[in-house]
Amino acid sequence: MQLITSITEMQQLADKTRNLGYKIGVVPTMGYLHEGHLSLIRLAKQNSDFVITTIFVNPTQFAPNEDFEQYPRDLNRDLAMCQAEEVDVVFAPETSAMYNSNFLTYVNVEKITSKLEGKFRPTHFRGVTTVVAKLFNITKPHIAVFGQKDAQQALVIKKMVKDLNFDIQILIGPTVRETDGLAMSSRNVYLKNDERKNATILYQSLKFAETEILNGETDIEKIKSTMEKMILEKKIFTIDYISFNDAETLDDLSIAHPNKSILISLAVRTGTVRLIDNIMVKR
Ligand code: PAF
Repeated sequence: MQLITSITEMQQLADKTRNLGYKIGVVPTMGYLHEGHLSLIRLAKQNSDFVITTIFVNPTQFAPNEDFEQYPRDLNRDLAMCQAEEVDVVFAPETSAMYNSNFLTYVNVEKITSKLEGKFRPTHFRGVTTVVAKLFNITKPHIAVFGQKDAQQALVIKKMVKDLNFDIQILIGPTVRETDGLAMSSRNVYLKNDERKNATILYQSLKFAETEILNGETDIEKIKSTMEKMILEKKIFTIDYISFNDAETLDDLSIAHPNKSILISLAVRTGTVRLIDNIMVKR
């Protein structure tokens, strides 16, 4: 496995790899890898010949009041995990290489970025799409793999790829969960014992909503209000949102129609930590 930090070197190796006829798969990450990332790497390996994992904590997707500085980092541990998965290249650039002091260009997907996460993190997706576009131009992949855990991000990236004609196939890997249901996230390390224990209510509330819909309940407000009660009963969470949206357009839904895929997503805060999770349901 090769560790590359230089953008030019990465682009040259990507060109060489493509010229040899290999299919490149990229898995963009911000590091501090866990089983969820490893499952995406495995999906990339199944669908390509040459896997690049990028590790870059992207400053432009964090607002000034967010956790950019505190975001967990451990490159050596990440490298060992990538090596064990037989990743071909880890691309881990310096921030100054990705964003020089003269950086002026951003990629912005409209509309679908202003709801859900976008309401609470208005500059977040502009940072994500900008860095992902840059990483695509640097690693030159045929396929790119993202996680369903960040469902809105996955939709936004697919939209960017379609609208800007990136010749890249986007694959979305399922959310990987701890045995008690908590969605894996690098940010879970921030959780104190009590917060970690109670965080299982998030997936339980999503599963409750799924069961209600599969049993024929169509009144979304009713389901939502029970979910709120379940979460708030724990007394340690505040809720940013619980939302039911059309899984493709992200239009808000108030009725669960049969045959429509519904994205049920939520974001909560406990202490200094913000957690997101989601589930996709179709009756
Ligand atoms: O999902 C993430 O870890 C990040 O948003 C991504 C896609 C690597 C862009 O920085």
